[in-house]
Amino acid sequence: MNRRALIAAPLALAACSGPPVAEAQVDIPPLKSVAPFPLGVAAMTEQFDDSAWGEVVGTHFDRVTPEWEMKAEAFAREDGTYDFSRADRLVGRATGRGLSVFGHTIVWYTQAPAFLQRLTGDRRAFEEAYGRYVRTVAGRYRGRVVAWDVVNEPVLDDGQGYRTRHAFHEALGIDYVRLAFEHAREADPAAVLFLNDYNLEQLPKKRRDFLRLAESLLKAGAPLGGLGTQTHVPADLPVGAMDETLRDLASLGLPIHVSEVDISANRARGRHEPERVAAEIVDAFQGLPERLRWGVTIWGARHGDSWLNRGEEKNPLRPDRPLLFDDQGRPTSTAAAFVRALTT
Ligand code: G3I
Repeated sequence: MNRRALIAAPLALAACSGPPVAEAQVDIPPLKSVAPFPLGVAAMTEQFDDSAWGEVVGTHFDRVTPEWEMKAEAFAREDGTYDFSRADRLVGRATGRGLSVFGHTIVWYTQAPAFLQRLTGDRRAFEEAYGRYVRTVAGRYRGRVVAWDVVNEPVLDDGQGYRTRHAFHEALGIDYVRLAFEHAREADPAAVLFLNDYNLEQLPKKRRDFLRLAESLLKAGAPLGGLGTQTHVPADLPVGAMDETLRDLASLGLPIHVSEVDISANRARGRHEPERVAAEIVDAFQGLPERLRWGVTIWGARHGDSWLNRGEEKNPLRPDRPLLFDDQGRPTSTAAAFVRALTT
């Protein structure tokens, strides 16, 4: 058992039995002051009106990833026109506070715009409209985002290869991925262009297929600039899983973005060890060559801001505690473990 697991064990024993215990209150330095890499957080426009949220984010983070305002669901109208007001508002609020913006996400199988879905039977028409769509979105935020998740979640969970049952693949085959990167680069010559997916830490076959796709993009000369591993993980993530994952992903020599970190107690079936998992995420990331450490993004500021405590994910009997700050904006023991891993 590695030293992290030894640290966590007593904490875990205290935490894994019975109802959730009150979280230990800790004092930490500003996270961005001890992280030798950009530290991001997921954000939604209305959160900028919440001064308590603003205090946590302004103190601890350098960058925001819009949770939903820069996705097709927020800006693509049925008739093929766009309403970028939500995305523009978020970008304006973020940059107004000195926060950089990570664009998320242009092409996601769950959100193919209706005006593209209607064209899937006509490859030429689809390809032309698809290119225009990607260039419109990427071009609008040229110079205002540092990077994009150009394509999100292209790989199936069970080691059966790429996702195919969606409009983008139905119309263009796997070429939709390369084309998205090429059009994004044409519209924005500077943004770092990422391929992003989830469960890469828990499903080696999925990670193999993800890497196979990334390698094929590089061989085709696509402007793939980095790999995003979302890291929505349970609080009992197996010891060593993060290190194995990041080493694997680093094999292509592309910068790595640990892009959507949350550490779910409710999704843990075994020992509840968020402190150990947080420390392992930092250790694995810090174990990468410096040129590959693109950044880490936490998928929300306070527990109550998490998607895991909203919609169908929400467990009203047992609110999840997946983030680094509690609902009062106080740092948790997981945040302290994150800092210890950064500073020791
Ligand atoms: O709050 C707005 C409301 O004002 C608006 O009128 C309404 C119209 O649809 O939407 C509401 O926003 C919802 C938003 O979450 C905030 O709660 C959206 O409906 C809902 O679709 C959106 O869900 C987001 C989801 O992606 C789909 O976009 C979650 O916040 C976000 O956490 C989740 O994030 C994904 C990543 O993009 C990809 N990786 C997995 C991750 C978790 O599912």
